[in-house]
Amino acid sequence: MQIVAFFNNKGGVGKTTLLCNIAAACAQDLGKRVLIVDADPQRNASFYTLEAPAFAAVARTGGLHRMLSNPKAPPATLLGSAHFGCHVLPGEPAMADLAPQFDVAWGGGDAPYILNLKSVLDAQRPDYDLILLDLPPTLNGLTRAGLIAADAFVAPFDMDMFSLEGLKLIKDWIRRWEPAWRGLTEASPESSARARFIGGVANRMTRDSGESSEQYGVITRQIDSLTTAMARDLADRVRGADYVIAEVPNFGEAAALANRLRRPIFDARVHPAARPVFVRAAEQMLANLERFATQARAA
Ligand SMILES: Nc1ncnc2c1ncn2[C@@H]1O[C@H](COP(=O)(O)OP(=O)(O)O)[C@@H](O)[C@H]1O
Ligand SMILES: [Mg+2]
Repeated sequence: MQIVAFFNNKGGVGKTTLLCNIAAACAQDLGKRVLIVDADPQRNASFYTLEAPAFAAVARTGGLHRMLSNPKAPPATLLGSAHFGCHVLPGEPAMADLAPQFDVAWGGGDAPYILNLKSVLDAQRPDYDLILLDLPPTLNGLTRAGLIAADAFVAPFDMDMFSLEGLKLIKDWIRRWEPAWRGLTEASPESSARARFIGGVANRMTRDSGESSEQYGVITRQIDSLTTAMARDLADRVRGADYVIAEVPNFGEAAALANRLRRPIFDARVHPAARPVFVRAAEQMLANLERFATQARAA
């Protein structure tokens, strides 16, 4: 059972969209029991995956914020998402108030506070095959707590220069944080090390009519070497892994319609032809996870 965070401090690259659709493919096509945990105060994953009444009721029933701010409180309800086939631990706008507290905790080395998110997620492990953690598009203490809580992370990125440059920075930040993370791990030996990089998802790959297949090949090789270098530099490289988990096309209007209908992009009522894209992405993500787990067990 594994926890995978979707992380990129750049916003709008498709973290939430890809996470929810890959979650649905894992659940519907690969038979996995999947929990989506929404740690973003913007709670887009909750909005997207929950029916409107359930989403509205979170203000009353509570979500991740309630569980983090008072560990003794009765656990928030895990809600079912019929269209995605997953359970959801919803996000709450008040999560934004917790972010500064996580920053303070990091500053003071307050391991119990930082590891609270990990405890909340660990408590759910027995009931699921896979927990997918949606993180906000920032580098704040809450995000870093998420990267401690998860076993692995996937970095979705858009196919533009700023995004590709941003991807290179992620590994520098993680390497800079690692000593502090190691300190935390020592303080709490049952805690696993930071989330390992298991691959990127190239989002909105447009194969425009004007673009030659040669050019497309150049781009594909670029993102392959970029993600492989990232895995190598983070010392997260495992044998046999392809670090481009998926190349996801630009779905244009279908993505917007999917948001509006609160259904996966590959839903029968949206764009069923997209299903293989997400099933392959799900398979590839799980294969890399398995490779990592196997290597970790052997070590
Ligand atoms: N492959 C795609 N094709 C078309 N639109 C997309 C695609 N991926 C994401 N989008 C759209 O881009 C916007 C930002 O995506 P989102 O998942 O919210 O990014 P993030 O979580 O990284 O901020 C959303 O409106 C979403 O519908
Ligand atoms: Mg998002």
